[in-house]
Amino acid sequence: MKVIILAGGGGTRLFPLSRKKRPKQFLHINQDKSLLAETIDRFRQIVKVTDIVIVTGKDYLFSVKSELAECNALEAHIVIENEARNTAPAIVLAAQYCKDILNSQDDEALFIAPSDHIIRPLKIYNDIVEKAEREAQRGSFVAFGAKTTKPETAFGYIRTGIKEENGFYKISGFTEKPDKKTALEYTEDTKYFWNSGMFCFTWQTYYEELQKYANPIVKYIGNTYEETAANFANMPGISIDYAVAEKTQRGVMIPLDLYWNDVGSWDALYEVLEKDSSGNAVKGDCIRINCNDSLLWSQSRLIAGIGLKDIMVVETDDVILVAQKGESQYVREIVNTLKARG
Ligand code: GDD
Ligand code: MG
Repeated sequence: MKVIILAGGGGTRLFPLSRKKRPKQFLHINQDKSLLAETIDRFRQIVKVTDIVIVTGKDYLFSVKSELAECNALEAHIVIENEARNTAPAIVLAAQYCKDILNSQDDEALFIAPSDHIIRPLKIYNDIVEKAEREAQRGSFVAFGAKTTKPETAFGYIRTGIKEENGFYKISGFTEKPDKKTALEYTEDTKYFWNSGMFCFTWQTYYEELQKYANPIVKYIGNTYEETAANFANMPGISIDYAVAEKTQRGVMIPLDLYWNDVGSWDALYEVLEKDSSGNAVKGDCIRINCNDSLLWSQSRLIAGIGLKDIMVVETDDVILVAQKGESQYVREIVNTLKARG
């Protein structure tokens, strides 16, 4: 099996900490390691470092290299996109690198992993990955479902059909990022799971599905990795969720019976951070007097809080974000306002 780690997203949901130049995968959240380095470490017990391919944009090459050095994984491969085209083309490029440069066969499993999630414990995860590998080799398009807890519009939703003997569910529907009303309906229905963003399939399956649903990506896939890389910028920008997951009839899902968090917002981050005895998550130099259930994140300056309750304060070199807990999805609007300002 080859592991393809997607590390080219430029998300800004953790603004002001994550920015276009420094997206979430490079942030050091809980421990000393970045989320990308933690992702690499997760696969080390399953595959050789030389079977790991990190696909990213050229602006992030330096950051990826320093993370690889940091976690002693310099033999992992890096595939560079000359322009960002979202995840469906990124996977094509990395998969073709596996075929052409690493001599991977068309029926070898490819495990696709986002680079910016927190997953534990490792033992259960490794078992799930190994099961998925076997299922992918049977021609399935494997997705990994997390239990829904709220109507989250930033996720894809998997509708499960019958459960097979091996523990996999047939996928009977996939809806990427539904509106709030639909997300609420799905959350109340136990047939639905969140799509965790990981996938496992063979190149043969992926290529056949792109072909079957006539995705224009197909016409830019060359005979060699070099040819595909040269055509890459012509591919349409589309995520794997819309290009394949929503359409395929070969989808199966394995439930993630473990802790999974995509750390997609300051609220999600608060959940995973360690708290003091008053429920405060604190990073850096922060004095708190009568503060409860708050998040205080200081990068360089002192944060001094009095009587805070359910408040989030994030200090970086150029921005101070102050937000009510539970409202962090509106960070997006701050980012849009800044973009409009130019
Ligand atoms: N190489 C590369 N190139 N990587 C990319 C690109 C790209 O153009 N765009 C995004 N990525 C990487 C991100 O860095 C991340 O690791 C992963 O691909 C997923 O992209 P996101 O942008 O974070 O996707 P999302 O969070 O909006 O949605 C996906 O994940 C959700 C779970 O966290 C979907 O799969 C949803 O269905 C899912 O629920
Ligand atoms: Mg994400």
